[in-house]
Amino acid sequence: MINDKIWQDIKETGSIGKRSVTVLDNTESTNHYAAALAKDGASSGTVVVAETQSKGRGRLGRVWLSPPGTGLYFSLIWHSQLQPEDLAKLTLAAGLGLCLALESCTNLQFKIKWPNDLFLDNKKIGGILTENLGQKQKHTLVIIGIGLNVNTPATAFPDDLAQKASSLYIFSKKKFCRGRLLTEILQKLDDTLTDLEQGQFNKILTEWRRRDATINKKMTWLTPSRKVVTGISLGINDEGLLHIRDNAGKIHEVMSGDLSLT
Ligand code: BTN
Repeated sequence: MINDKIWQDIKETGSIGKRSVTVLDNTESTNHYAAALAKDGASSGTVVVAETQSKGRGRLGRVWLSPPGTGLYFSLIWHSQLQPEDLAKLTLAAGLGLCLALESCTNLQFKIKWPNDLFLDNKKIGGILTENLGQKQKHTLVIIGIGLNVNTPATAFPDDLAQKASSLYIFSKKKFCRGRLLTEILQKLDDTLTDLEQGQFNKILTEWRRRDATINKKMTWLTPSRKVVTGISLGINDEGLLHIRDNAGKIHEVMSGDLSLT
């Protein structure tokens, strides 16, 4: 394993600059831990990161595999002033921030599969789980949880995931400093989330669309009522919702559910 001095520094100081970072060896889920801190009054920008998670969670009740020492599993507490109908845009802003940070640290090209999957070469290497804890004083308490397969070897993935998942290491054959990645990701998340809070969603949309993994591709959408829709992705509209044109020409606006490239 590479010598990640920044990671050690973060562990020892419990901070990155002025930001408080709690580094745990093992926790159930950093989202869960961060939610408790947020309810106790932790400030916006506070971060919880873990070496491993015993019950890492993904969207739609899925498990997020969290092998120790190789990935980044962390949660950011965010106090949002957005209207409730705009909160879903936080996931898009976070996805863009994640891409921008990784692009600057690696020179690789990343794509985002709506709403929250980070892709490299058609395989998933990261995901975002945004959870709304409700209103506190004048803001909404939000937890933005990010899982990223950094130095994860192929052998860490069970057979059912091996075809679909990858890591920075598997793709590039290089190992990366998790401390440096985390520092850069947090910086870029601050930038994109602040742009969103300041009404600049258009700026996010432009950059997000450049990294859209599904545009013009064939997709299958399992709707929340378990109906299967197959069609072509038309990309996201100005509100950040995905549009799919089905085989009969009908256009569906996707707000939730399970999407896969076919
Ligand atoms: C997904 O792709 O479905 C989202 C995955 C999010 C995983 C991260 S790992 C850190 C944080 N803690 C969790 O339990 N989940 C998120």
